[in-house]
Amino acid sequence: MSSELPRRPGLDETAQSLLVAPSETKLWLSSPHMSGRELELVQDAFKSNFVAPLGPMVDRFEAALSADTGIAHVAALSSGTGAIHLALRLAEVQQGDEVWGSSLTFIGGAAPIFYEKAVPVLFDCDACGLIDLDLVEEALATANRLGRLPKVLITTDLYGNVVDLDRASALCRRYGVILISDSAEAVGSKFKGRAAGYGADFAAYSFNGNKIITTSGGGALASDNKNLIERARFLATQARDPAPHYQHTTFGYNYRMSNICAAIGVGQMEVLAQRVARRRAIFRQYQDALALKNDVSFLPEPVGGVANRWLSVLFLGGDAKVTPSVVMNALAAHNIECRPVWKPMHLQPVFKDARFVGGRCAGNMFERGLCLPSGSNMRDDELARVIDLLGVTLN
Ligand SMILES: Cc1ncc(COP(=O)(O)O)c(C=O)c1O
Repeated sequence: MSSELPRRPGLDETAQSLLVAPSETKLWLSSPHMSGRELELVQDAFKSNFVAPLGPMVDRFEAALSADTGIAHVAALSSGTGAIHLALRLAEVQQGDEVWGSSLTFIGGAAPIFYEKAVPVLFDCDACGLIDLDLVEEALATANRLGRLPKVLITTDLYGNVVDLDRASALCRRYGVILISDSAEAVGSKFKGRAAGYGADFAAYSFNGNKIITTSGGGALASDNKNLIERARFLATQARDPAPHYQHTTFGYNYRMSNICAAIGVGQMEVLAQRVARRRAIFRQYQDALALKNDVSFLPEPVGGVANRWLSVLFLGGDAKVTPSVVMNALAAHNIECRPVWKPMHLQPVFKDARFVGGRCAGNMFERGLCLPSGSNMRDDELARVIDLLGVTLN
C-alpha cells in the first residue's frame, strides 16, 4: 500500500512507510464516536474541578440512564464487568452456588462467576444468539426436582439483540432465582418497546471504547430496588462505613465511574438514538447488498425486538464460497477490521470443567460468524468500500 504513495518531503523512511492511501485508511470494527458536546461537558467538569472521582456529571449520567431505560435506580461504574460482579455480590452468591448463563458471550459477562467462587453452568443459544430459554425452562424444572436450583441466571443481550425478559423473569420468579440481564452490548436496544435490561432484578451495561456509546471505559448497574443500588454504590467505593476514620464491616471494590468519564457519557446519551439509527442503517445496507450471495445470512432480530445492531453479524453456511477466516484476511489486507463471533464460554479452556446444556448452536455461530465494521462514524463511502470488498470476496 504505502510503497505506491508518492514520497512526502520531510518524512523519514519509517514515517513514509506508515502512510496509507486514503482509500485504505483503517476501518475499525467499532470505534468511539463523539458528537462534540462531550468535550464541552468535560471542560465543565474541569472548570468545576470535579476531576476527582464522583461529582455532578455522575449524577447526571445516572439520571439519563435511568430515564432511558425506565429502571428507577442506576449506579455508574468503572466497567460492565464490575457491574456484573457487583450484581452477583448483591445477589449474595456464595461459594459453590450455581450461576447459570449464556455460553455465547464475552468473558467480562462470565468471569465474575469465578470471582465469587460460584459454579458456572452454560447454556446454548437460539437462532438470535440469545440464551435458549426452552433449555433453561427444562433445566430449571429438573433442578427443582433435584433440589439444586441455581442462585442466579445471567442472560446476555448478544450484539444488541434483547432477551425476552418477560419470559426469563417469570421463570426466575417461579423458582426463586435472581435474574441479571447482561445488557452490556444492548444500550439503546428495545424489546416490546422496553429498554434492554428492563424487567430483570439487575441490568448491567457497558460503555467501553467499542460499544455503541462510550465513556472511554465504564459501566452501570441498574435496578428498581433503591436499597440494592445504594448498596452497589457503597460496595463500589471500598465499602466505607459512615465514620470519619476509615471503617469497614465488609470489603468492597474501587468500581465507581469518575466525573470526567461521566461527562463524556452525558454527551453520548444525547445522541444515543442517532447512534442506534445509524448502526441499524449500516446493518440494512450489508443485508441488502449481500443477503442473496450463496448461503450468506445475517443474525436475525428476535420477534418484538429492535436491536441497536451494535455489530452487524454475518454467517457463511457450508455452501458459501469462502470461510469467515478467508473473508477476515481479505478485509485485513485492505486495512479493514473484522472479528469472529465470540468464542462460546463452554469452548474456552477456563470453562473446561463447566457443565454445558445444549447442542451446536453457539459453536456453529462461532465457526460460521463474522462481525463486520459497524461503527456509527463510518462514512457512506467507507461502508461502500467494505461492501464492495465483501461482494468480491463472497462471489
Ligand atoms: C456481553 C458483555 N458482557 C460484559 C462486558 C464487559 O463490559 P466491560 O468491558 O465494560 O467490562 C462486555 C463488553 O465488554 C460484553 O460484551
